[in-house]
Amino acid sequence: MKGFAGTTYDEVPYMAASFPNTHPEILAVTSLLRGLEPPPLDGARVLELGCARGENLVPMAWSLPKAEFVGVDLSPRQIEEARAMADVIGVGNVAFHAMDLRGLDESFGSFDYIVAHGLYSWVPPDVQESILDVCARRLSPKGIVYISYNTFPGWHLSVMFRDMMLYRIRKISDPAERLREARGFMRFLADCAKPEETLWSLLLRDQAEYVEKAKDWYLLHDDLEEENNPVYFSEMVDRAAQHGLQYVTEERWGTADEILSPQTWEVLDRFATNRVEREQYLDFIRSGRFRRSLFCHAGLRIAPGPVPDRLAQCRIRTRVRPKDPKAVPLAPGEEVFVAEGGMSLKTSDPRLRTLLHVLYDVWPKSLDHAAATHVLAEAVARSTGGEKPPQAVLDRMLHQAVLAQLVSTHLLDLPVATEIPSKPAGSPVARYQASRSDVVTNLFHQSVDVEPLDRFVLGLLDGTRTVAEVESAVAEAIAAGDLAPTASGHPPTENEETKTPDALVDLSLTRLLASCYILA
Ligand SMILES: C[S@@+](CC[C@H](N)C(=O)[O-])C[C@H]1O[C@@H](n2cnc3c(N)ncnc32)[C@H](O)[C@@H]1O
Repeated sequence: MKGFAGTTYDEVPYMAASFPNTHPEILAVTSLLRGLEPPPLDGARVLELGCARGENLVPMAWSLPKAEFVGVDLSPRQIEEARAMADVIGVGNVAFHAMDLRGLDESFGSFDYIVAHGLYSWVPPDVQESILDVCARRLSPKGIVYISYNTFPGWHLSVMFRDMMLYRIRKISDPAERLREARGFMRFLADCAKPEETLWSLLLRDQAEYVEKAKDWYLLHDDLEEENNPVYFSEMVDRAAQHGLQYVTEERWGTADEILSPQTWEVLDRFATNRVEREQYLDFIRSGRFRRSLFCHAGLRIAPGPVPDRLAQCRIRTRVRPKDPKAVPLAPGEEVFVAEGGMSLKTSDPRLRTLLHVLYDVWPKSLDHAAATHVLAEAVARSTGGEKPPQAVLDRMLHQAVLAQLVSTHLLDLPVATEIPSKPAGSPVARYQASRSDVVTNLFHQSVDVEPLDRFVLGLLDGTRTVAEVESAVAEAIAAGDLAPTASGHPPTENEETKTPDALVDLSLTRLLASCYILA
């Protein structure tokens, strides 16, 4: 198979991670809110196409022990590593197959959730067709498909630079040399682009910087693979429709720079006659380069936005924290809430502030809808000294918070600790990954970069050691020269102060707790 015989991934494996948006829980809750009836997570069958080394699938399988997982990838080396990971961790509800996804016949049965992340754009057009065909044929009647893919117009520029680099390295097969030449060539073009400060020289400089900073495995596969076939969103929806699949919604969170003014929305709504067109115009505005779209079988009824009634079946977790957690929500004036990534929100609405404080108090846990509205009603009544707000008002508040992306919706009550237990335990997945890599999956299925000190401490958290025993193990590692006594565990930089093992363990456990690695 041209350019994708699995060999390039055998040679330089893809350093895959876990992707929270692909977790069946998120696919289920997202489609539930769109009015669908997604299959229950207990007993669900989940398929991942192009699962690489299982770094996404094994943590999912561990988190949903009553579901069954199947991973398929063309690269035997990556599949071997995936099996080894599942074996060492002792995850028994996942099976891996080194095979071409085109061989997924009815003997594999049907699947309730099918995930194809980072695959569709990097295969030739006939395999793209097969992905949609397999998804349509292997999907259970109420099942949900997740496909991520590169999109135009954002990829037009990248395709141009990619063509230029590929031309330069067309006769080179050694991966290290391909990388060296591609980077050197872009720097050469950027340096000789004249006159400076034209759009062209700015673009070249930007590209040279990007290829210099990109990780080797990422650049080699994402930009320099022989196949890279982006598509317009609207075209993707048409292609899926030809296989009997319909677009459900996008699985993504907006960022601060994506917030559009009401006037812009008004004009967009004049251009767009349906939600697919609306999404396509959004890609034009944002120069969209990547999408994570959900699909289901054609014929199922899909709501245009989150259905308020469905929230009653959800758990709610805040996505923002009060800048001052001790602030009194009913005090007059504005209060600032901060989201991950730095986006902040100012509000003087006392009820919204109360809601966000109530949810922040239990974070990283979530509250089910009934508990969230109950606690909210109590908090509002207590602080106003008045009546509890009617249920309809509380429901509307939660719905507004979902629409504004201030809270996330869930179906699982995660076993995540809110304080450090006497014998702390991390998940076996995290302990396995921490022993091999600095990218480790937390209990929210997020891949997080972890410092050497935290990797070392996480490796010790099997639930049998007290905090004092963890401190002794850290002291021994420092004495043996295996760990540096600094806040990161890296050798000290000039003037950096070293710390005692007790202080280091305290620091590390606090960080691991805050990053949601510690089991309740
Ligand atoms: C870019 S990697 C993405 C890996 C992972 N899903 C991620 O996003 O991190 C694409 C993966 O798809 C696999 N692949 C490509 N063509 C395939 C095919 N026809 N059947 C099965 N796997 C395939 C490759 O071996 C590779 O591991």
